[in-house]
Amino acid sequence: MTDLNLTELTPFIGAEVHDVNLGAPMSDETFTAVKRAVAERSVLLFRDQDLTPQSHIDFSSRFGALEKHVLQDFCLDGHPEIFVVSNIMENGKHIGAFGGSKEYHSDLAYISEPSKGSVFRCLECPDGEGETEFVSLFAAHDALPAEKRAWLAEQSAVYDYVWDYSRRQTQRPPLSDEQIHNTPPVTHPCVRSHPETGRKTLFLSPIWIRNFEGMSEEDSAPILKELTDFATGPDFSYRHSWRAGDVLIWDNRSTLHKACPFDEENSRRLMHRTTITGEQTVR
Ligand code: OGA
Ligand code: MN
Repeated sequence: MTDLNLTELTPFIGAEVHDVNLGAPMSDETFTAVKRAVAERSVLLFRDQDLTPQSHIDFSSRFGALEKHVLQDFCLDGHPEIFVVSNIMENGKHIGAFGGSKEYHSDLAYISEPSKGSVFRCLECPDGEGETEFVSLFAAHDALPAEKRAWLAEQSAVYDYVWDYSRRQTQRPPLSDEQIHNTPPVTHPCVRSHPETGRKTLFLSPIWIRNFEGMSEEDSAPILKELTDFATGPDFSYRHSWRAGDVLIWDNRSTLHKACPFDEENSRRLMHRTTITGEQTVR
């Protein structure tokens, strides 16, 4: 078994991986070790990487097929697998998804087979702001009071992308009929087993959850808020300060993340994301 040279970022989430060049050919042994480290540490950081859109896609594809995002306007020309996250405007148009993701979520939790993980590459980020914050849903799960954990183990949540989009995305154009058709509400268990390790994790991506299954929106909201406040507290979190050349892989099955604010009027931030297709959620 190959051992990676790792430095943990916190005791419960994250590790920096040294001496791995993601743009160069990687042996199956090293790739297997990277994949295992993602499953165990939930977030992996690789510094000073020199990727192109194509090498970013090639590396990411080893984890599985890549998603093509519902918002195709924000994907890179000629590379529909790359979702651009940026505040930059060219020719009067945003080149990427902007002003979003500032609330905790897990990518594509609103589809029936939510993403396994995302590979996020920093091309430009202002100093001292625009960080990304993560929480470990493994750690949050393990720290829940036993009674709440047992209750949640039996619950499912209804995710509704279209409902959420219509209540918040005032800066973005309305969804087309096709986009609406392609993103119907879905249900996921609130606690799932990690497919690679079997470890139990909370699985809650609060922004898209409309209600707990079998419960009204009104009754669900305070419970969801209490759980979200608990899970996203400082005890389970890691905040990543970006440098150009950073690549972060996060496991969407065991983490939440959100973008931290920055001066969107005057600074430039440019990130590329690939999103790995997932599997069914299993209790
Ligand atoms: C994302 C995302 C956070 C950030 O691209 O999935 O949530 O810090 N990004 O831009
Ligand atoms: Mn995201």
